[in-house]
Amino acid sequence: MTQDFSGKVAIVSGGASGIGAAIVRDLVARGTKVVVADYNLEGAETLAGETGGGARAFKVDTSVADEVRAMVDFARAEFGRLDLAVNNAGIGGATAPVGETDLDDWHRVIDVNLHGVFYGLRYQIPAMLDAGAGAIVNMASILAAVGWRGSAGYVAAKHAVAGLTKTAALEYAARGIRVNAIGPGFIATPLIENAMDDAAREALVGLHPIGRLGTAEEVAALTCFLLGDEASFMTGGYYPVDGGFLAQ
Ligand code: NAI
Repeated sequence: MTQDFSGKVAIVSGGASGIGAAIVRDLVARGTKVVVADYNLEGAETLAGETGGGARAFKVDTSVADEVRAMVDFARAEFGRLDLAVNNAGIGGATAPVGETDLDDWHRVIDVNLHGVFYGLRYQIPAMLDAGAGAIVNMASILAAVGWRGSAGYVAAKHAVAGLTKTAALEYAARGIRVNAIGPGFIATPLIENAMDDAAREALVGLHPIGRLGTAEEVAALTCFLLGDEASFMTGGYYPVDGGFLAQ
């Protein structure tokens, strides 16, 4: 049975596209009030507009701490509280071996994919303590568990997100806040589809024993499960949703 989140308030960063957009739709369908937070404001507004009042758009660059604090303030001002958060915004970055990595690209990937998640936790947790409880999902990757040639910054950030998740979970478990990380395999979203040609896509498909890329809805289903009370004994975990990628 689908868990009902009526009365809950959530923030989804990177909510305008791909996995984030699927999570927004799933949460709204369960009765959640959602802040669609993204630096693509137009995309966030379009999605929020489709939800019939269940969501509001907010423009944020999650790599900027003050903007992330403002995002949390916005959720409380609009909907009165914060119960749930998904720190999902992420970028791929350029592809190069470590010895040739552009330093600015390295810093940008770490800023968004690691610092952005930390800023999320930093400001969401006090708001959830005020609400009395909370649940957070950080979007990591299968690349939080294994390496990937050419994407050192991305891999380093995602591994760090897994460690950050464990530590935040330990610190707040006794105070009613659960924090988990998800490890998607390659998911058919703009992040992936825009980055490669057909041959590269087929090669990626071949890395997943299930024989296809995942869908954003499959990641959203796991996210909503972890945010809900059915996952009440789950915290500090890292959960792949990867078509068997990591089993090899
Ligand atoms: P996407 O590119 O379709 O969507 C990402 C969204 O985040 C976009 O709307 C973008 O505007 C927003 N965004 C990016 N940087 C931002 C920032 N600094 N502040 C605010 N918004 C920002 O990407 P996708 O595939 O939906 O990825 C979502 C998350 O899932 C990312 O963290 C990504 O690393 C992770 N992931 C994706 C996988 C895939 O195969 N698509 C696999 C594993 C993890």
